[in-house]
Amino acid sequence: MADSLTEEAATAGSATADEIARYVVTEAVWAPSVHNTQPWRFMADGQQISLYADTDRGLPVADPNGREMMISCGAALFNLRLALRSTGYVPETRVLPDPGQPTLVAKVTWRQRARASEFERWLSSQVHRRRTHRGAFDPEPLPRGTLAALRGSAAAGGTSLRIVADDGGRAILAAAVETAERHLRLDAERVGELARWSPAPGSARSDGVPATSYPAQAERTDPYFPGRDFAHGYGWGLPPLSSARMPRATGVVGLLTSATDRQVDWVNAGQALQRILLTASASGAAVALHSQPTEMPWLRELIRAKLSDNAYPHLVLRIGMVIQAAESVRRDPDEVLFWSPRCAACLEVARG
Ligand SMILES: Cc1cc2nc3c(=O)[nH]c(=O)nc-3n(C[C@H](O)[C@H](O)[C@H](O)COP(=O)(O)O)c2cc1C
Repeated sequence: MADSLTEEAATAGSATADEIARYVVTEAVWAPSVHNTQPWRFMADGQQISLYADTDRGLPVADPNGREMMISCGAALFNLRLALRSTGYVPETRVLPDPGQPTLVAKVTWRQRARASEFERWLSSQVHRRRTHRGAFDPEPLPRGTLAALRGSAAAGGTSLRIVADDGGRAILAAAVETAERHLRLDAERVGELARWSPAPGSARSDGVPATSYPAQAERTDPYFPGRDFAHGYGWGLPPLSSARMPRATGVVGLLTSATDRQVDWVNAGQALQRILLTASASGAAVALHSQPTEMPWLRELIRAKLSDNAYPHLVLRIGMVIQAAESVRRDPDEVLFWSPRCAACLEVARG
């Protein structure tokens, strides 16, 4: 309630900079992140927020270069900018503004005002509603125009969403996901790392992938894109929605790629990813994400050479229609939002 009051005040132009900062961070934290690690921190200073990557929440085994961490931060940056738009402010964004501070992902300031467009409001309405899907889809096709809208959502900053429509390409991608998943399950270090981010049912943790967000039983599709083993053999997860044996679909398969593979491309890919996910959600579609093959350099290279015209693949996406029951968790914004001491002298006075 407090957050929606803040939004109203912000929209009316009467909210303070601190209230706006708190509101946009409340929205930013609902971004997707690899294993729900939520690898971000925010520093508010007047009408400016700095977004930092929290390297203590990185995945040294699966993501040693921090690419997935930066994609996750990019998704949070997109939410933050969108939240500013929804309050009628125009964000000015500098991505990786200081080469001397590699964990400083972006600085965002807001001064000018302009009404949010209908499209921006449409996307904003999905920030809390969107969930990552895991498993198969209903056979129903995507609403007309959805794929064109999703491709358009990705096309900025050198990022693309490439739809892999031919049976041969889908089979190669499915085989890459399956091969990667098999390797991951046999690698004790990777299994241990994933286990640290997949808490048991009933856990009070507000990060990691909860058992309320994946199916207890793998749903086979043709071709088959296996999900990650979050339950690591304990049978955790959601029961099937219905016992009816309807044919289940793989969905439309795509690849999120960048023309080059620098840190800035990863942040931009994350921004594009979140724009795609919110656009899909607003169209009534859901998206499943597979980063298993892009975590293995040789499989990433194979996908790059065979399916993405040498652009660098980040994620495999499956897009489809489904009624979702998944629930996720987030840390409280107050755990990740810090306030810059604006006036050291005033603080000294306040301390007495
Ligand atoms: C870079 C990145 C990689 C991801 N890889 C996978 C994946 O391989 N399998 C999966 O089920 N989800 C994957 N996800 C989705 C996250 O697990 C999900 O965003 C997180 O658990 C929070 O849940 P939510 O998206 O439903 O809010 C990925 C997300 C990101 C940003």
